Amino acid sequence: MDFRHQPTTVAGVASVDADALLVVVVGNRPPDDLPAALTKALQAVVKQGDLALDGGRCLYFGHVAGVKAPRVAFAVAADASPRAVKSALAQGLAQLKGLGGKQLAVWVAGAGALTESHAEALATAGGDAVYLYRHTKPSAGPGSKLSRATLLCTRANEAAVAYGLKRGAAIVAGVTLAREVANRPGNHCTPTQLAEHAEELARTMKLKVEVLGRKEIEKLGMGAFLAVAQGSDEPPRFIVLRYAGAGADDAPVVLVGKGITFDTGGISIKPAAEMDEMKFDMGGAASVLGTLRAVAQLKARVNLIGLIPTCENMPSGRAVKPGDVVTSLSGKTVEILNTDAEGRLILCDALAYAERFKPRVVIDIATLTGACVVALGHHRSGLFTPHDALAEALARAGDAALDPCWRMPVDAEYDEALKSNFADMANVGPRAGGAITAAMFLKRFTDKLRWAHLDIAGTAWRSGAQKGATGRPVGLLTHYVLAQAEGGNA
Ligand code: BES
Ligand code: MN
Ligand code: ZN
Repeated sequence: MDFRHQPTTVAGVASVDADALLVVVVGNRPPDDLPAALTKALQAVVKQGDLALDGGRCLYFGHVAGVKAPRVAFAVAADASPRAVKSALAQGLAQLKGLGGKQLAVWVAGAGALTESHAEALATAGGDAVYLYRHTKPSAGPGSKLSRATLLCTRANEAAVAYGLKRGAAIVAGVTLAREVANRPGNHCTPTQLAEHAEELARTMKLKVEVLGRKEIEKLGMGAFLAVAQGSDEPPRFIVLRYAGAGADDAPVVLVGKGITFDTGGISIKPAAEMDEMKFDMGGAASVLGTLRAVAQLKARVNLIGLIPTCENMPSGRAVKPGDVVTSLSGKTVEILNTDAEGRLILCDALAYAERFKPRVVIDIATLTGACVVALGHHRSGLFTPHDALAEALARAGDAALDPCWRMPVDAEYDEALKSNFADMANVGPRAGGAITAAMFLKRFTDKLRWAHLDIAGTAWRSGAQKGATGRPVGLLTHYVLAQAEGGNA
């Protein structure tokens, strides 16, 4: 979907040339900035009791007398915040996306000045509405006809709206890539195929890419990563992607994404119910690809490196066993008490590898723990870092992108759970505080880094009827990296 803006007057909204007009009505009374024809139509449906001016309500009309666009929908936003406007846009788009129109115009009434964030919200709501998974479902059909959304604005807001749409379009491209890769089943997205996606991304966005195979991973000494990979017939890959938007001596931002293309649990095998969802266990890796895509599209002045350790976690005669002790790239030994705590094992070697880039910051992104889903549900990702300024910057980025996270503790007291009699540490602690001990395990590999960890187990995909990848936290990460490019240091 293509996103544009068009300055117009209030009266001009009625004569806009589009296949459909979506009017977002902010607040609980008819706004002043509507052309007469739309005010009349809105007042009539409110009076008839067909549309209450409550946030989340939406009503579709065919033609409205005096309006040029042949289709009109009203969607009500509870307030003028980008969050409320985005949810109204999503309602309106859900109504309109299945109709015949190709070109959509959007007018937000009663909001006052539109900001970058409102414009970005239109782009991301549009991208979410029209994405359709079809790679292994030919019967999915042709999808929405909507191919262009034009945000109507005033001259005064034009620059902010244009930039917000540009940033939003880049985030949509990144989110769409992340969703598509993460949605593909384990047999259509093996570590080898994930690496092919990275190579394809590198070709289209002119990034540098390196893909290491088992032999090279062995040579590096990534014993923790290899222990997870050894149970599978699919060979592991270690992917290094580089976007160079700043000078060679500018310290890079490094993103590390968990790329378990399927997590059976290994010998500590998972129960059968919902195990299919463990194809999404490479959601962190997918978000790294998506963020690189967005940042490269925006030509941000920053150096950005993506590291993706990727393999399957499978039981087999060769699989790692509970009690096995392995030596990680850092030299630290790990007693693997539970083979289902595999994400931290592949990430600890990638974190040790990240040191060689002398990064300004390293952020790992992982569908790491069921415990994080228990703690935070599906709205906010878990954020773990000992660095206050970094925590604030990431939280701000998440809020701005409407892709929020919430800081969790990393007190030294939690670290004691990882003591082992047979190695430098165990890979699991007790059930209680499981998301935190997972973060404490990773923290042991970050002494030389400014590091944060995002646990996206609750946010990377949806279950049930809407089952599918969300593309989160591409929005959060893109906002954070852009802030770095603009001279932010946190
Ligand atoms: N990929 C899972 C985490 C997960 C589970 C995410 C369910 C979303 C839903 C991870 O590899 C895992 O299995 N973690 C274990 C850790 C435990 C063994 C300490 C978990 O959360 O149960
Ligand atoms: Mn697991
Ligand atoms: Zn996992």
